[in-house]
Amino acid sequence: MSQPGNTHFTRKVSDVSDGKMGGTAEPSQTRQVARGAPLLIAALSFSLLTGASYGETSMERGEAMYLQHCAACHQPDGKGIPGFFPSLAGHPRVNSDHPEKIQEYLAAIIFGYHGGLIVNRQLYSGRMPPIGQLGRLNDGELLDLINYQRQSWGNSARAVTAAELAEARSKKR
Ligand code: HEC
Repeated sequence: MSQPGNTHFTRKVSDVSDGKMGGTAEPSQTRQVARGAPLLIAALSFSLLTGASYGETSMERGEAMYLQHCAACHQPDGKGIPGFFPSLAGHPRVNSDHPEKIQEYLAAIIFGYHGGLIVNRQLYSGRMPPIGQLGRLNDGELLDLINYQRQSWGNSARAVTAAELAEARSKKR
């Protein structure tokens, strides 16, 4: 069933690609479409120049940093690769609100971890790099990243506090 509205729309689009100004389409609409492309390009290059792509909210910044520092191993969807990189989605320690479990989890991110793990009945014997200790991320960035993981991909743990992060950092291993 073709609706009269659809026919009208198709006609306007083909008018634009023919390069006709006016014609059967309303002139104002045709000009708007033609002006859209340069504006979009200007907006994109502005965000690249200013680095605005890091995002406004804690979740947006956390996601950007997760993609940069963790996703190569744990994957963009947080599901990891079974047998190589544990899934952070549904990981019991990532989801725990228990202070001791939070300290263990923070220690893995700050100091790295190796020596074997069993997560969701799967064995891991790889090596997690000491991301939080390498000086690439300050505490605010690390908190954004950590809390992004705790509230993404179906995870729904409470946010970790700056005091908890400081406590984990102060522990020598
Ligand atoms: C180079 C690959 C790699 C990168 C990058 C990486 N990880 Fe890991 N991660 C691992 C491996 C491998 C393990 C499992 C360690 C083992 O098998 O003993 C792991 C384990 C973990 C665990 C589970 C620890 C536990 O106690 O169960 C968490 C949480 C974690 N990573 C978070 C992160 C976060 C957050 C980042 C980014 C800041 C990150 N990882 C970056 C490879 C990586």
